[in-house]
Amino acid sequence: MKKIVILISGRGSNMQAILEARLPLTIAAVISNEPQAAGLAVAHKHGVATRAVDHRAYAERATFETALAQTLDTLTPDLIVLAGFMRILSATFVDRYAGRIINIHPSLLPALPGLHTHRAALAAGLKVHGCTVHFVTPQVDFGPVIIQAAVPVLPDDTEDTLAARVLAQEHRIYPQAVRWFCEDRLAITPHGTVQIKRARAADGSLLSPALDPPES
Ligand code: GRF
Repeated sequence: MKKIVILISGRGSNMQAILEARLPLTIAAVISNEPQAAGLAVAHKHGVATRAVDHRAYAERATFETALAQTLDTLTPDLIVLAGFMRILSATFVDRYAGRIINIHPSLLPALPGLHTHRAALAAGLKVHGCTVHFVTPQVDFGPVIIQAAVPVLPDDTEDTLAARVLAQEHRIYPQAVRWFCEDRLAITPHGTVQIKRARAADGSLLSPALDPPES
């Protein structure tokens, strides 16, 4: 069974969605760079081990990342899941775990990288907005897209109503992406895109048929 570690900085609702999806995997720990993150208490309530690696305890990004990597490496995760983890990770760190770190971003990447995506979507008058799970590469909010979900932007939306509509979709697609990774169904193509490989149950039936391309 695959082992994952989830990195958070705040409330941890995406982490909670993954915990509550009861996926066939081991959650080795939830790590936060914010010792007071509300998500740590949620993880603890779910019986998941928690750690804090406080970035403020380190003068430089490099030393913080060394401490984070040491903590991660003792846990030997197959996959590192960034779920509202609010520290930018250096190329050195990302390359160390290449192909083994995923992130969720609240926009339809490559549109609207960075912060305040709901505000930006409203300001641009977008009619469709959403969220993306992607592999992490050194370029922030950029790597190969695994799954996306779109929502309408409604005329009377505020940042909060739009964020809530997107967040409901985040909670749906993030557990799905983690499941695919843990089923060895994700492959990064030479073009840098993600192929979702087919998987069949023991009786030969196609798993997740609604999400698979038609038979060729
Ligand atoms: C989510 O909107 C996620 O897309 C973004 O940060 C937020 C984290 O929320 N990266 P939560 O901590 O998972 O509730």
